[in-house]
Amino acid sequence: MRIDIITVSPELIKSPFEYSIIKRAIDKKLVEVHFHDLRTYALNDYGKIDDYQFGGGAGMVLMIEPIDKCISKLKLERNYDEIIYMTPDAPTLNQQTANTLSLKENIIILCGHYKGVDQRVRDMLITKEISIGDYVLSGGELGAAVLCDAVIRLIPGVLGDETSALTDSFQDDLLSPPVYTRPSEYKGLKAPEILLSGNFPKIEEWRNEKALERTKKIRPDLLED
Ligand code: ADE
Repeated sequence: MRIDIITVSPELIKSPFEYSIIKRAIDKKLVEVHFHDLRTYALNDYGKIDDYQFGGGAGMVLMIEPIDKCISKLKLERNYDEIIYMTPDAPTLNQQTANTLSLKENIIILCGHYKGVDQRVRDMLITKEISIGDYVLSGGELGAAVLCDAVIRLIPGVLGDETSALTDSFQDDLLSPPVYTRPSEYKGLKAPEILLSGNFPKIEEWRNEKALERTKKIRPDLLED
C-alpha cells in the first residue's frame, strides 16, 4: 500500500510514522508513506496557499490551485483508489472504514487547515471525507496520523500475530473483554480464575460474555442494529 499525505505542516505529522508497529510496517515495505508540502505548489515565491474567504468572515481558506497541482502530479504517476480529505464536518472514522481502506493500493490524504479548503476541492477532487470525532483540531494532520495508524495495522503481515487485529474492539461491533497478566493476585485483587483454568472453550465463552456486558454498559449504540 502507498499513502501520499498532502499537508502544510509535514513536520507535525511525521513522528507517528517513526515508531513501533507503523515504523516496522514501513521497514518491512508493507506500506510506503510520502509527505507532500503544499507550499511547494504555492502560487508565488512567498508560498501563498491560502486566502480570505469570499463573502467575508474570520479565517483563511486553502486555495484550490496548489492542491489541484499537487494531486494532478500524483495522479500522473499512478491511479488512486481514494482521495481523502480530513475534516470535522464529515462521517466519523470507524473500524469498518479502516478495514476497507487497509485493502486499497494507493490513497491520498489531504489535511485541512485554518478554515478548511475551497469547497470546489471537495466537490471536484476528493472522493471520501473523514472526521476522527466531534471536536475541532487545529488541522487535519493529527487526524490523518490516527487514520493511518488504524489502517496500517490492519494490512496483512503488519501485526505479528495475524489474529490479533481480528480480536480488537469493534471488529464484531463489540468492545474487547478485559485482559489480565501476572501476577494473578495483586494487593488482594485477583484475576478471574477461569482465565487460569486452561479450559479454553470456557474461557472463550467468558470473554464473549464480558465483551457483551461491557458493550451494553459503555457503548449500547453498537448493539442497536
Ligand atoms: N480537522 C480538524 N478537526 C478534525 C477532525 N475532528 N477530524 C478530522 N480532521 C479534522
